Amino acid sequence: MGRLDHKVCLITGGARGQGEEEVRLFQEQGAIVWLCDVLDDLGQPLADELGVQYRHLDVTDEAAWQDLVEEIVRTSGGIHGLVNNAAIFRVGRLKTTSVDDFQAVMRVNTLGVFLGMKTVAEPMTESGGGAIVNISSMAGLRASVGSFAYGASKWAVTGMSKTAAVELARKGIRVNSVHPGLIETPMVEDVPINKEGIIRRTPLGRIAQAKEVARMALFLASDESSYSTGSEFVIDGGLNAPKRFNGLALDDSRLSSDVVTLIAPLDEWVQHNGWRALQIQFVFRVVPPTAPGLSFQHSNSADFGEQQKHKNRGDQGHQLQAFKDRKGSDGNACPE
Ligand SMILES: NC(=O)c1ccc[n+]([C@@H]2O[C@H](COP(=O)([O-])OP(=O)(O)OC[C@H]3O[C@@H](n4cnc5c(N)ncnc54)[C@H](O)[C@@H]3O)[C@@H](O)[C@H]2O)c1
Repeated sequence: MGRLDHKVCLITGGARGQGEEEVRLFQEQGAIVWLCDVLDDLGQPLADELGVQYRHLDVTDEAAWQDLVEEIVRTSGGIHGLVNNAAIFRVGRLKTTSVDDFQAVMRVNTLGVFLGMKTVAEPMTESGGGAIVNISSMAGLRASVGSFAYGASKWAVTGMSKTAAVELARKGIRVNSVHPGLIETPMVEDVPINKEGIIRRTPLGRIAQAKEVARMALFLASDESSYSTGSEFVIDGGLNAPKRFNGLALDDSRLSSDVVTLIAPLDEWVQHNGWRALQIQFVFRVVPPTAPGLSFQHSNSADFGEQQKHKNRGDQGHQLQAFKDRKGSDGNACPE
């Protein structure tokens, strides 16, 4: 018995990458899959191989959404699942992102998701309810330095998912967002990424595979996630878990890759040995206050125990505050 038996599911951007893995897994788990994309030369052969339906759909086209969903309901008898997976990525900071790039990204990544949810809401209700899975990103939960428009679009997906979840809950429709870290797909092939730095800082010590995101999408599309809606589901190998250690705030999204490379061994050492063992003098030597991207408020304390005493007395002047100002080169733009 499959986990999606008898469910009719539509997956956007399903011709390659994570979408392809979702198509394969959903079909394997008994869903009646409709796969759509703008890459017909990849989508059609994949659909033929798996025996599923392929349709050309540009997710920014409202009329095309309506035609496709009508056809799905007419042909397959209803619609129970939608994975809004299609997206594009552009490199660019606040200052260097053009209006054209910003609008292009927002149209596919945000308008596309909005139109998908809007179009399926009623037919999904009439089908007895269902689940919408919106593929956001870690860029939809934190800063996205080096990919400004992409970050904006993915925060919009996070927000739309929550509001839609509330609006559609009583119609039997659940809506959740998925937030992958870096995943090896064609989207990131040409993006300048410090992959080794990411792997080193990821507790699980590797980059995820597209099928691992597909498994999360499967869970959220299936009845196994029956009490989850309006929530964010993170797949990042633990990368964003160790964000803050007492006085030292590690926020890699604000750091140059050089500083990240410098700080990562210290970060690992602290995780292994604990803060108590860390002499503040050691910090002074490894991360001098003059390093790019760092600012340091002077501490007279010789060790962490001393710091805690001051902290307990409410003396905030002894807090170590690193990474105030990001001045270094970027080199870390990626869709995660
Ligand atoms: N790869 C990563 O590191 C990463 C990380 C976090 C989130 N994501 C997100 O995961 C999802 C899947 O991305 P991927 O990594 O598989 O990338 P991908 O580029 O391999 O796949 C994206 C798919 O969307 C399709 N698409 C683009 N514009 C479209 C449009 N207008 N209409 C219909 N389809 C369109 C593309 O043709 C492609 O098949 C995206 O939402 C992406 O933002 C990716």
